[in-house]
Amino acid sequence: MRTDPFHLAWFLQGSSVQAWGASWTGSIADEWMSADMFVDLARNIERAGFDYMLLEDSIYVGENHHTGRDYFLKRGMSIPRQEPSVVATLMAAATSRLGIVPTLSTFAYAPYLVARIVGTLDQISGGRGGWNMVTGSSDLSAMNFGMDRLPPHDMRYDMAEEFVEICKELWGSWEPGCIVADEQNNVLIDPSKVHAINYKGRYYSSRGPLNSGPCPQHQPVIAQAGGSERGKSFAAKWADTIVAHPKGVEAMKAYKASIAQKLVEHGRDPSSCKVLYLVGPLLGETEEDAKALLRRRNAWAARNVEYSLARLGWITNIDFSQMDLDAPVGELSTNGHQESLRQFLVKAGKRTLREAMVDYSTSGQSIDLVGTPDQVAGQMEEIMQEVGGDGFLFSMPNVCRRTTAEICDGLIPALQKRGVVRKHYTHKQFRDNLLEF
Ligand SMILES: Cc1cc2nc3c(=O)[nH]c(=O)nc-3n(C[C@H](O)[C@H](O)[C@H](O)COP(=O)(O)O)c2cc1C
Repeated sequence: MRTDPFHLAWFLQGSSVQAWGASWTGSIADEWMSADMFVDLARNIERAGFDYMLLEDSIYVGENHHTGRDYFLKRGMSIPRQEPSVVATLMAAATSRLGIVPTLSTFAYAPYLVARIVGTLDQISGGRGGWNMVTGSSDLSAMNFGMDRLPPHDMRYDMAEEFVEICKELWGSWEPGCIVADEQNNVLIDPSKVHAINYKGRYYSSRGPLNSGPCPQHQPVIAQAGGSERGKSFAAKWADTIVAHPKGVEAMKAYKASIAQKLVEHGRDPSSCKVLYLVGPLLGETEEDAKALLRRRNAWAARNVEYSLARLGWITNIDFSQMDLDAPVGELSTNGHQESLRQFLVKAGKRTLREAMVDYSTSGQSIDLVGTPDQVAGQMEEIMQEVGGDGFLFSMPNVCRRTTAEICDGLIPALQKRGVVRKHYTHKQFRDNLLEF
């Protein structure tokens, strides 16, 4: 059966000291500040024809493990994290076709500021700017911005509705053809084509117009990762691309069907939003090499349960170190990442925290991909045939130049040979490439 081409994106876990202490990471502890490795990564994934780079972000130092920061700081877990919009600018300058998508949380930035940052990114990149729209998930981050805690989960989405409306209206506050540059009449901008928006919402207001001017894409691309019902409905209303991690082919199909239905409910064409699933392929020279890597990774996870406890605790605000590792997990709730906690609890069932965590930490992706580049390319093709699109988001735990080469010079050429991903970009602008197939 012929597979339609699918899309690829890379999920960079923040510009930071990636995978410090792991093999092949060079002098990352000395070099991370320059962000050179991530800029090289952007160049490489562009060479491989990826649609976009999504820069993850969080704006706090973890504390919810042994009720302190020590574990997070000692292990460099999600810390340090550089401001993604600054690093996005470097990536934009180093590339010419790749979409660049920094994460900007609605609780931390004002709508006008996000519209301006992303609008400027769209301008300097020639129409390749995007925004990963997240609502935040930690009270610790809220405290860095003068709040005691984040608003409740669903209310954050209600607030985000207004936030996005303002951004979109601000981007639309400059009509096409507004810059006339008429030297004879001494008119740069036609005032009749630039408008105030006078938005007054329950949570946010903004007057406008946006002072940074029109965007090449008119509306920069919006990425979202709603996992809860509320989150999915939000994503289907606003997003051009959705990144998700439902577990297994059946769950991926169900997720896509649910998004398609919600897109239609919002009056949108289902093909106008591309759903990409999280993967982290393990590649070897031979199948046996790849399986050995998998065994090593699983053994590492079994020996380092504490690491996984802290990681899940970091996104759910739960201090798992206070719980008995050898007792059943029981009921838990969160005002943080609800979908991740739900998936963990489904895995846990009646098992102990230790057993559940080892299982969860070795199956963090939508689907396990293990083998030689050609085998993994075949697995990806089959999955896309089964799910019906739209592509994959690579989330590699140990980002280093070797990982980059494995993906961009090993796996992607194998996918290109099968004709299931692009070899060359057709368009200059991000959304045009995203909607190409
Ligand atoms: C692939 C992926 C990337 C995400 N990136 C971020 C991020 O950079 N920052 C953040 O605060 N949340 C991030 N999230 C969390 C989502 O914004 C969202 O909170 C999460 O998927 C849970 O969905 P829910 O809020 O609808 O329960 C990400 C989620 C996924 C699946």
